[in-house]
Amino acid sequence: MAEIPKHRFAGARVAVVMGGLSAEREVSLKTGAGVLAALLERGWDAVAIDWVPSLSIGRAIEDSGCAVVWNALHGTDGEDGALQGLCQCLRIPCTGSGVLASALAMDKVMSKRIFESCGLPTPRWALLPHVDDGGDARALADWPLPLIVKPANEGSSVGVSLVETRAQLAPAIALARQFHGQVIVEDYIAGTEVFVGILDGEVLGSVEVRPATKFYDYEAKYKRTDTQYLIPAQLPADVIARAEDYARRAYLALGCSGHARPDLRIALDGAAFILEVNTLPGMTGTSLLPKIAKSIGVDYPTLCERILSSAS
Ligand SMILES: Nc1ncnc2c1ncn2[C@@H]1O[C@H](COP(=O)(O)OP(=O)(O)O)[C@@H](O)[C@H]1O
Ligand SMILES: [Mg+2]
Repeated sequence: MAEIPKHRFAGARVAVVMGGLSAEREVSLKTGAGVLAALLERGWDAVAIDWVPSLSIGRAIEDSGCAVVWNALHGTDGEDGALQGLCQCLRIPCTGSGVLASALAMDKVMSKRIFESCGLPTPRWALLPHVDDGGDARALADWPLPLIVKPANEGSSVGVSLVETRAQLAPAIALARQFHGQVIVEDYIAGTEVFVGILDGEVLGSVEVRPATKFYDYEAKYKRTDTQYLIPAQLPADVIARAEDYARRAYLALGCSGHARPDLRIALDGAAFILEVNTLPGMTGTSLLPKIAKSIGVDYPTLCERILSSAS
């Protein structure tokens, strides 16, 4: 019988860092609990670190005695390169993309500039000034509706609005500005959505998401039960192949490593537009990346272990 190759970190203590201080804290706690349980089930010496405001995270990682960090954070500090930089300084490998790729992927403005420079289609967009000088409505007077307003640095659809009437524009911008970063507007792409699962530069597969609402907002992601997730996607094979190709190229363009889940919008004529690359996608047992992996025979604990082995 062929011997199963030993895991890169076999015998090492793994710290699953979760929670954190971002708007996505609750989602991260679920990801972390799922990953921790999976690693324990596989016999790993895994410990949880719940990053609460009073915790000195660098000290907590060192005190845990871990040799590797499984990063189960989402959003600010976890997904944007900050924790990755801390681990790099501590000389402790961390799962997922490194400092630069994480920071670029988290920032929708920088991501779009890179997508465009690589010829990857992304919805037509504009950057709004940091503060409202009263000119927003004027600047967007000719922008066709519907449009999308979103903060450049959030996730989980937090602060994203669909604007269908001019009257909705100012409140949508004010909402997106609450997240302290830059705000962008985009053409609304009517159609459906495809999320692509990637591990170590290889496409695992994709899921077609059909929200019951006009876009996949926070409610549809975490609260509603009428969002449809289709694996395999029902869209024509050539449309999916193109979406997966763009997704892989976007991952490579940003310099990602390990696991990631690019999000694309598919217009009614089948044209694909890359919205963003999520470098720390939800990883509960029922999240989309694990579902995609499962569809090709990679179960959840195995996916968690494979992600662990890609830590750098
Ligand atoms: N240009 C767009 N056209 C249509 N829907 C969009 C567009 N941009 C965002 N959305 C909707 O909003 C959701 C969240 O937007 P996204 O850019 O992926 O940000 P995040 O997931 O980081 O909050 C998408 O999944 C999609 O449903
Ligand atoms: Mg998204």
